[in-house]
Amino acid sequence: MNRTLKLFVASIAVFSMVIGTSCSRDKSKPGLEYMPDMYRGPQLNTYSASGLFKDSSSARLPEEGTVPRGYTTYNVPNTTDAYLATLEKKAYPSTAAEMSESNLLEGERLYTRFCVNCHGVKGDGNGNLMESGKFAGVPSYDSQRLPDITPMSIFHVITHGKGVMGAHAAQIETQDRWRIAQYVLALRAELDGDDAADVVVGDDESSMAEDVADDSEDASEENA
Ligand code: HEC
Repeated sequence: MNRTLKLFVASIAVFSMVIGTSCSRDKSKPGLEYMPDMYRGPQLNTYSASGLFKDSSSARLPEEGTVPRGYTTYNVPNTTDAYLATLEKKAYPSTAAEMSESNLLEGERLYTRFCVNCHGVKGDGNGNLMESGKFAGVPSYDSQRLPDITPMSIFHVITHGKGVMGAHAAQIETQDRWRIAQYVLALRAELDGDDAADVVVGDDESSMAEDVADDSEDASEENA
Protein backbone atom coordinates (compact mmCIF):
# COMPACT_ATOMS: atom_id res chain seq x y z
CA MET A 1 0.00 0.00 0.00
CA ASN A 2 1.36 3.35 -0.80
CA ARG A 3 1.36 6.24 1.67
CA THR A 4 -1.75 7.99 0.32
CA LEU A 5 -3.82 4.85 0.45
CA LYS A 6 -2.68 4.17 4.07
CA LEU A 7 -3.70 7.69 5.09
CA PHE A 8 -7.05 7.28 3.36
CA VAL A 9 -7.79 3.95 5.15
CA ALA A 10 -6.69 5.42 8.49
CA SER A 11 -8.94 8.46 8.15
CA ILE A 12 -11.92 6.27 7.19
CA ALA A 13 -11.26 4.19 10.33
CA VAL A 14 -11.11 7.28 12.57
CA PHE A 15 -14.24 8.72 10.94
CA SER A 16 -16.25 5.52 11.49
CA MET A 17 -15.07 5.37 15.12
CA VAL A 18 -16.32 8.91 15.66
CA ILE A 19 -19.68 8.14 14.03
CA GLY A 20 -19.92 4.80 15.85
CA THR A 21 -19.20 6.13 19.35
CA SER A 22 -21.27 9.31 19.07
CA CYS A 23 -24.49 7.39 18.48
CA SER A 24 -26.11 5.79 21.47
CA ARG A 25 -28.58 2.92 21.32
CA ASP A 26 -30.67 4.54 24.02
CA LYS A 27 -32.60 7.19 22.08
CA SER A 28 -33.27 9.23 25.22
CA LYS A 29 -29.51 9.77 25.84
CA PRO A 30 -27.47 12.14 23.70
CA GLY A 31 -24.51 9.73 23.40
CA LEU A 32 -20.95 11.04 23.35
CA GLU A 33 -20.86 14.78 22.77
CA TYR A 34 -17.68 16.41 21.55
CA MET A 35 -18.60 19.93 22.53
CA PRO A 36 -21.33 19.59 25.19
CA ASP A 37 -21.14 23.30 26.12
CA MET A 38 -22.46 24.09 22.67
CA TYR A 39 -25.63 22.13 23.38
CA ARG A 40 -25.98 22.55 27.12
CA GLY A 41 -25.01 25.99 28.36
CA PRO A 42 -24.35 26.64 32.06
CA GLN A 43 -27.54 28.74 32.44
CA LEU A 44 -30.50 27.31 34.35
CA ASN A 45 -33.82 26.70 32.65
CA THR A 46 -36.81 28.55 34.12
CA TYR A 47 -38.00 26.87 37.36
CA SER A 48 -35.50 24.02 37.01
CA ALA A 49 -33.88 22.68 40.20
CA SER A 50 -30.43 23.93 41.12
CA GLY A 51 -27.84 22.41 43.40
CA LEU A 52 -26.41 25.89 44.03
CA PHE A 53 -29.00 26.84 46.66
CA LYS A 54 -30.11 25.08 49.85
CA ASP A 55 -33.79 25.08 48.84
CA SER A 56 -32.74 23.72 45.39
CA SER A 57 -34.89 26.32 43.63
CA SER A 58 -33.33 28.18 40.69
CA ALA A 59 -36.03 30.91 40.83
CA ARG A 60 -34.60 33.48 43.25
CA LEU A 61 -36.25 36.50 44.86
CA PRO A 62 -34.52 39.88 44.35
CA GLU A 63 -32.30 41.06 47.19
CA GLU A 64 -34.35 42.64 49.99
CA GLY A 65 -34.73 46.37 49.45
CA THR A 66 -34.36 46.09 45.67
CA VAL A 67 -36.29 48.81 43.86
CA PRO A 68 -37.36 48.20 40.24
CA ARG A 69 -36.15 50.81 37.75
CA GLY A 70 -38.66 53.67 37.48
CA TYR A 71 -40.22 53.02 40.89
CA THR A 72 -40.04 55.33 43.89
CA THR A 73 -40.17 53.83 47.33
CA TYR A 74 -42.97 54.76 49.71
CA ASN A 75 -41.91 53.84 53.22
CA VAL A 76 -44.96 55.16 55.07
CA PRO A 77 -46.38 52.12 56.88
CA ASN A 78 -49.99 50.94 56.77
CA THR A 79 -50.97 52.10 60.25
CA THR A 80 -53.70 54.39 61.59
CA ASP A 81 -51.12 56.88 62.86
CA ALA A 82 -49.40 57.03 59.49
CA TYR A 83 -52.78 57.52 57.75
CA LEU A 84 -53.72 60.35 60.15
CA ALA A 85 -50.34 61.99 59.44
CA THR A 86 -51.15 62.02 55.69
CA LEU A 87 -54.28 64.10 56.44
CA GLU A 88 -51.98 66.83 57.80
CA LYS A 89 -49.95 67.00 54.57
CA LYS A 90 -51.99 69.32 52.42
CA ALA A 91 -49.54 69.55 49.51
CA TYR A 92 -48.28 67.24 46.81
CA PRO A 93 -44.70 66.13 47.59
CA SER A 94 -42.00 67.27 45.15
CA THR A 95 -41.61 63.65 44.02
CA ALA A 96 -45.22 63.44 42.75
CA ALA A 97 -46.10 63.54 39.04
CA GLU A 98 -46.51 67.20 38.07
CA MET A 99 -50.02 68.56 37.82
CA SER A 100 -50.87 68.83 34.16
CA GLU A 101 -53.72 68.23 31.75
CA SER A 102 -52.07 65.10 30.34
CA ASN A 103 -51.45 63.61 33.79
CA LEU A 104 -55.06 64.32 34.70
CA LEU A 105 -56.25 62.53 31.54
CA GLU A 106 -54.04 59.57 32.37
CA GLY A 107 -55.44 59.67 35.92
CA GLU A 108 -58.94 59.49 34.48
CA ARG A 109 -58.02 56.50 32.30
CA LEU A 110 -56.55 54.62 35.27
CA TYR A 111 -59.41 55.62 37.58
CA THR A 112 -61.83 54.17 35.03
CA ARG A 113 -59.89 50.93 35.06
CA PHE A 114 -59.22 50.47 38.78
CA CYS A 115 -61.68 52.52 40.83
CA VAL A 116 -64.84 53.21 38.88
CA ASN A 117 -66.64 49.95 39.72
CA CYS A 118 -66.81 50.95 43.37
CA HIS A 119 -66.48 54.74 43.36
CA GLY A 120 -68.59 55.51 40.28
CA VAL A 121 -67.91 57.65 37.21
CA LYS A 122 -68.56 60.86 39.17
CA GLY A 123 -66.78 59.72 42.32
CA ASP A 124 -70.05 59.83 44.22
CA GLY A 125 -69.64 56.25 45.48
CA ASN A 126 -72.28 54.80 43.15
CA GLY A 127 -70.20 52.37 41.10
CA ASN A 128 -71.64 49.18 39.54
CA LEU A 129 -70.74 47.11 42.59
CA MET A 130 -72.59 49.49 44.91
CA GLU A 131 -75.64 49.66 42.65
CA SER A 132 -75.81 45.89 42.30
CA GLY A 133 -75.72 45.62 46.10
CA LYS A 134 -72.52 43.52 46.05
CA PHE A 135 -70.62 46.18 47.92
CA ALA A 136 -71.52 48.75 50.55
CA GLY A 137 -69.91 51.67 52.33
CA VAL A 138 -68.11 53.32 49.41
CA PRO A 139 -67.94 57.03 50.29
CA SER A 140 -68.52 59.92 47.90
CA TYR A 141 -65.37 62.04 47.41
CA ASP A 142 -67.19 65.29 48.21
CA SER A 143 -65.97 67.57 51.01
CA GLN A 144 -68.97 66.92 53.20
CA ARG A 145 -68.48 63.17 53.23
CA LEU A 146 -64.66 63.24 53.34
CA PRO A 147 -63.69 66.66 54.71
CA ASP A 148 -60.04 65.90 55.45
CA ILE A 149 -58.61 63.97 52.51
CA THR A 150 -55.44 65.36 50.90
CA PRO A 151 -53.31 64.34 47.88
CA MET A 152 -51.05 62.46 50.33
CA SER A 153 -53.93 60.64 52.01
CA ILE A 154 -55.42 59.60 48.66
CA PHE A 155 -52.01 58.30 47.55
CA HIS A 156 -51.67 56.48 50.87
CA VAL A 157 -55.12 54.86 50.58
CA ILE A 158 -54.51 53.78 46.96
CA THR A 159 -51.17 52.30 48.05
CA HIS A 160 -52.25 50.47 51.22
CA GLY A 161 -56.07 50.25 50.88
CA LYS A 162 -58.48 51.18 53.68
CA GLY A 163 -61.19 49.13 55.36
CA VAL A 164 -62.65 46.84 52.69
CA MET A 165 -60.89 48.73 49.90
CA GLY A 166 -57.86 46.68 48.85
CA ALA A 167 -54.27 47.88 48.35
CA HIS A 168 -53.39 48.84 44.77
CA ALA A 169 -49.61 49.23 45.13
CA ALA A 170 -48.95 46.01 43.22
CA GLN A 171 -51.13 46.97 40.25
CA ILE A 172 -50.49 50.70 39.93
CA GLU A 173 -47.03 52.22 39.52
CA THR A 174 -46.07 55.07 41.91
CA GLN A 175 -46.45 58.03 39.55
CA ASP A 176 -49.72 56.64 38.22
CA ARG A 177 -51.06 56.66 41.80
CA TRP A 178 -50.33 60.41 41.91
CA ARG A 179 -52.09 60.86 38.55
CA ILE A 180 -55.16 59.08 39.94
CA ALA A 181 -55.01 61.22 43.11
CA GLN A 182 -55.14 64.32 40.89
CA TYR A 183 -58.17 62.95 39.12
CA VAL A 184 -59.92 62.07 42.42
CA LEU A 185 -59.43 65.70 43.51
CA ALA A 186 -60.86 66.91 40.19
CA LEU A 187 -63.95 64.72 40.75
CA ARG A 188 -64.16 66.08 44.29
CA ALA A 189 -64.13 69.66 42.99
CA GLU A 190 -66.93 68.82 40.55
CA LEU A 191 -69.00 67.17 43.29
CA ASP A 192 -68.46 70.26 45.45
CA GLY A 193 -69.52 72.49 42.55
CA ASP A 194 -66.02 74.02 42.31
CA ASP A 195 -64.05 74.54 39.14
CA ALA A 196 -62.09 71.31 38.51
CA ALA A 197 -59.49 73.33 36.54
CA ASP A 198 -58.26 74.85 39.84
CA VAL A 199 -57.15 71.41 40.92
CA VAL A 200 -54.98 71.01 37.84
CA VAL A 201 -53.32 74.42 38.07
CA GLY A 202 -52.94 74.08 41.84
CA ASP A 203 -53.20 76.78 44.48
CA ASP A 204 -50.26 78.16 46.47
CA GLU A 205 -50.58 75.47 49.06
CA SER A 206 -50.40 72.58 46.66
CA SER A 207 -47.30 73.91 44.94
CA MET A 208 -45.38 73.79 48.23
CA ALA A 209 -42.83 71.03 47.83
CA GLU A 210 -42.62 68.42 50.52
CA ASP A 211 -40.77 65.18 50.33
CA VAL A 212 -42.20 61.70 50.74
CA ALA A 213 -38.97 60.96 52.61
CA ASP A 214 -39.86 63.56 55.28
CA ASP A 215 -43.27 61.99 55.63
CA SER A 216 -41.86 58.54 56.14
CA GLU A 217 -39.53 59.87 58.86
CA ASP A 218 -42.47 61.55 60.61
CA ALA A 219 -44.54 58.42 60.34
CA SER A 220 -41.85 56.09 61.61
CA GLU A 221 -41.17 58.40 64.56
CA GLU A 222 -44.86 58.37 65.39
CA ASN A 223 -44.93 54.62 65.24
CA ALA A 224 -41.68 54.10 67.14
C1 HEC B 1 -63.72 47.16 45.87
C2 HEC B 1 -64.23 48.50 45.90
C3 HEC B 1 -63.23 49.64 45.83
C4 HEC B 1 -62.28 49.89 44.88
C5 HEC B 1 -61.95 49.06 43.64
C6 HEC B 1 -61.65 51.12 45.25
N1 HEC B 1 -62.19 51.60 46.41
FE1 HEC B 1 -61.70 53.32 47.33
N2 HEC B 1 -62.92 52.88 48.87
C7 HEC B 1 -63.74 51.78 48.94
C8 HEC B 1 -64.38 51.74 50.25
C9 HEC B 1 -65.36 50.68 50.75
C10 HEC B 1 -63.90 52.85 50.96
C11 HEC B 1 -64.21 53.24 52.42
C12 HEC B 1 -63.08 52.68 53.25
C13 HEC B 1 -63.19 53.00 54.73
O1 HEC B 1 -63.10 54.17 55.09
O2 HEC B 1 -63.34 52.04 55.49
C14 HEC B 1 -63.00 53.56 50.06
C15 HEC B 1 -62.37 54.73 50.37
C16 HEC B 1 -61.64 55.49 49.47
C17 HEC B 1 -61.13 56.82 49.73
C18 HEC B 1 -61.33 57.64 50.99
C19 HEC B 1 -60.29 57.21 51.98
C20 HEC B 1 -60.32 57.99 53.27
O3 HEC B 1 -59.32 58.67 53.52
O4 HEC B 1 -61.32 57.90 54.01
C21 HEC B 1 -60.45 57.22 48.62
C22 HEC B 1 -59.73 58.54 48.40
C23 HEC B 1 -60.52 56.13 47.67
N3 HEC B 1 -61.25 55.10 48.22
C24 HEC B 1 -59.93 56.15 46.43
C25 HEC B 1 -59.89 55.02 45.59
C26 HEC B 1 -59.16 55.00 44.36
C27 HEC B 1 -58.39 56.15 43.78
C28 HEC B 1 -59.36 53.75 43.83
C29 HEC B 1 -58.76 53.18 42.56
C30 HEC B 1 -57.31 53.16 42.51
C31 HEC B 1 -60.21 53.02 44.72
N4 HEC B 1 -60.50 53.82 45.79
C32 HEC B 1 -60.65 51.73 44.52
C33 HEC B 1 -63.92 50.84 47.96
C34 HEC B 1 -63.13 50.71 46.82
